[in-house]
Amino acid sequence: MSRVLVIGCGGVAQVAIQKCCQVDDVFTDICIASRTVSKCDALKEKLEGKTKTKMTTAKVNADNKDEVVALIKSYQPDLVMNIALPYQDLTIMDACLEAGVNYMDTANYEPEDTDDPSWRAIYEKRCTEKGFSAYFDYSWQWAYKKKFEEAGLTALLGCGFDPGVTQAYCAYAKKHEFDTIDTIDILDCNGGDHGYAFATNFNPEVNLREVSAPGSYIENNKWVEIPAMSIKREYNFDGVGKKDMYLLHHEEIESLNVNIPEAKRIRFFMTFGQSYLDHMRCLEDVGMLSTSPVMFEGKEIVPIKFLKALLPDPATLGERTVGKTNIGCIFTGKKDGQEKSYYIYNICDHQECYKEVGSQAVSYTTGVPAMCGALMLLEKKWNKAGVYTVEEFDPDPFIAALDQYGLPKKENHHPVLVD
Ligand SMILES: NC(=O)c1ccc[n+]([C@@H]2O[C@H](COP(=O)([O-])OP(=O)(O)OC[C@H]3O[C@@H](n4cnc5c(N)ncnc54)[C@H](OP(=O)(O)O)[C@@H]3O)[C@@H](O)[C@H]2O)c1
Repeated sequence: MSRVLVIGCGGVAQVAIQKCCQVDDVFTDICIASRTVSKCDALKEKLEGKTKTKMTTAKVNADNKDEVVALIKSYQPDLVMNIALPYQDLTIMDACLEAGVNYMDTANYEPEDTDDPSWRAIYEKRCTEKGFSAYFDYSWQWAYKKKFEEAGLTALLGCGFDPGVTQAYCAYAKKHEFDTIDTIDILDCNGGDHGYAFATNFNPEVNLREVSAPGSYIENNKWVEIPAMSIKREYNFDGVGKKDMYLLHHEEIESLNVNIPEAKRIRFFMTFGQSYLDHMRCLEDVGMLSTSPVMFEGKEIVPIKFLKALLPDPATLGERTVGKTNIGCIFTGKKDGQEKSYYIYNICDHQECYKEVGSQAVSYTTGVPAMCGALMLLEKKWNKAGVYTVEEFDPDPFIAALDQYGLPKKENHHPVLVD
């Protein structure tokens, strides 16, 4: 029996909520709260009669801490699942501390306004000290560690697929396959086709900011930064086939470098088709990916937000997307003095996801781990006060839950390595 407050009702949250409703003996009560309450009401209506979970809805602006505190105090949840946007992470964490409730999210904090001088001063210092320039990093949320410990509360960060499951795969490899891990390559392949010349599979603003940023990776335990999309490899993915993939900066590299310090090299690759890259380069060249406001006909507009309004809503891509995703990690290292390699991954089919929950696989592969992470916290299988990323918990019950609820693992003990 547990009460959960979910903030956000977009592509990922809609999957997570539907999956929670499949586990209605644990998720007995859910409040779906978001900025646009009509989306919450529509989902509640869709699910009623199909689950024992009792659902309510609420309107909340999660940029306003006091509004979130008031909602938590009135609903009294055991857990707040933040599946809104990374911009709201800190206000929701502050609200959870003030109201005394556990917290989780699926993406690490980044500011909505990257021109804010007070944020920029800290950001520029971090770029110099650490050696990567992505707008997002864990320092902001790790700074809450002591506060959560002292309050006896847990904050689980980044519990989607990547970040999220990929870190559980690392913890699993470390626990079961290796004495020491030397290298980690995280490979995210989306072999899906939605038939549009250009669309993003999750929130366009967050997605385009991520992929247009410089790439970076860990080599000999140090950050190396490279121009965006400048390292390309081809890989033959099980269930998908050959795809071009590009090295990106990704948030789990930062936490894995801290929590698996023996890994000398940690890289992240994502597949992109040529049409996506051509559109992105063109949009970037004309300034459409900018987050800085411009004046247009007497009105201030943010180019990337305007672009978001023009692009297809990722939540509507499900019906037309065919093909599969394949996301996982390849490791090299040693076991009992012998060199070995190991690949653990999941294959997910876009149309199967659509049949089950009405979404494409990118929302599904994020929403299912969010539900499984919540399950770990509610059933106290993951139970320690503080602020943690997924690899800091026992991977076994989480991976067993993923196997059970739609994202089964596959393993290969002789994988082709990425050069
Ligand atoms: N770890 C992973 O593997 C992974 C993968 C993909 C995505 N993600 C993360 O998952 C999260 C959700 O992505 P998504 O694709 O579902 O995004 P989305 O479709 O844009 O949904 C975001 C939701 O948050 C709501 N929201 C935005 N600002 C809000 C505010 N100030 N107060 C209350 N609600 C607010 C939106 O409300 P409106 O309906 O009013 O816009 C919408 O319901 C993002 O943080 C994304 O980075 C993680």
